[in-house]
Amino acid sequence: MPKKIKDISELPGVGRSTAAKLTEAGYSTLEAIAVASPQELSTAVGIPLATAQRIIRAAREALDLRLKTALELKRERASVRKITTSSKNLDALLGGGVETRTITEFFGEYGTGKTQLCHQLSVNVQLPPEKGGLSGKAVYVDSEGTFRWERIESMARALGLDPDEVMANIFYVRAVNSDHQMAIVDELFELVPKENIKLIVIDSVTGHFRAEYIGREHLAQRQQKLNKHLHQLMRLAEIYNVAVVVTNQVMARPDVFYGDPTRAVGGHVLYHAPGVRVQLRRSRGNRRIARVVDAPHLPEGETIFVITEEGIRDPAE
Ligand code: GTP
Ligand code: MG
Repeated sequence: MPKKIKDISELPGVGRSTAAKLTEAGYSTLEAIAVASPQELSTAVGIPLATAQRIIRAAREALDLRLKTALELKRERASVRKITTSSKNLDALLGGGVETRTITEFFGEYGTGKTQLCHQLSVNVQLPPEKGGLSGKAVYVDSEGTFRWERIESMARALGLDPDEVMANIFYVRAVNSDHQMAIVDELFELVPKENIKLIVIDSVTGHFRAEYIGREHLAQRQQKLNKHLHQLMRLAEIYNVAVVVTNQVMARPDVFYGDPTRAVGGHVLYHAPGVRVQLRRSRGNRRIARVVDAPHLPEGETIFVITEEGIRDPAE
């Protein structure tokens, strides 16, 4: 049995200088290489296409990316766990809560509760399973600077948890641009298994990409990069059986952004990626409407939750 490859420098045909070039170009992990296309890798690293193909194949083998049997699929499905949102309505809409092994996208206009849900889930993932959690930690990647530890504190207290303990179990990082955001996700392939992390939040997943790739001429490039980012997140979700939650702000008037693929057709970014998309809308006062879009495995319909001082809750009867 050949030795198990654990690092990119151990890939056949990758010497010190190629390993350095790969790292510099952002392909610092086996996962990053495994999900790259040969063309992309060859251009980014300046290696022949055939070499890129060989490296990608080796990375995939090292990660065990092979055909699965139906039985394995069944077992994978059975390993899916759910995190409560603290709203029974919303949990029911999601088929029990936010699932591991997948990406859940909350999209909607400003003030619809995307960030509040991310805070609530970062607390709730720490609850024991009998209370709707996974006894795990959270990573909060904040691209907009809207994370508030004070909010975590009140949500934790409202659930009878020790606020300091809860805050100690949330790893926070501010992503300063899209490249940084992607590099952070690369690093999570190491951190997640080491720290019993069960939830990864990216709030928002699209902000930097939109700000940096402006204009129609950059749309394709932006979408390509965003797809790669989502792909990496999907790998994290699958490999480590964690929940990945991303947010995406969409404007009320999609016509203004005509031609923008991240805003088209309902506006969600997961249009071509696997995952669960939840649209949020404002209603009266602190009430918010949630709707799951194109999820054949979930029941159709809408539900209402509220944002209170304690966090996400069901509306009073
Ligand atoms: P953008 O990031 O701007 O796209 O919005 P968002 O969807 O992330 O909105 P967010 O989750 O920040 O929701 C904002 C709403 O949550 C506000 O309109 C408030 O009604 C509510 N909210 C935020 N913080 C608190 C709080 O401490 N107490 C209470 N009661 N409500 C809060
Ligand atoms: Mg927000």
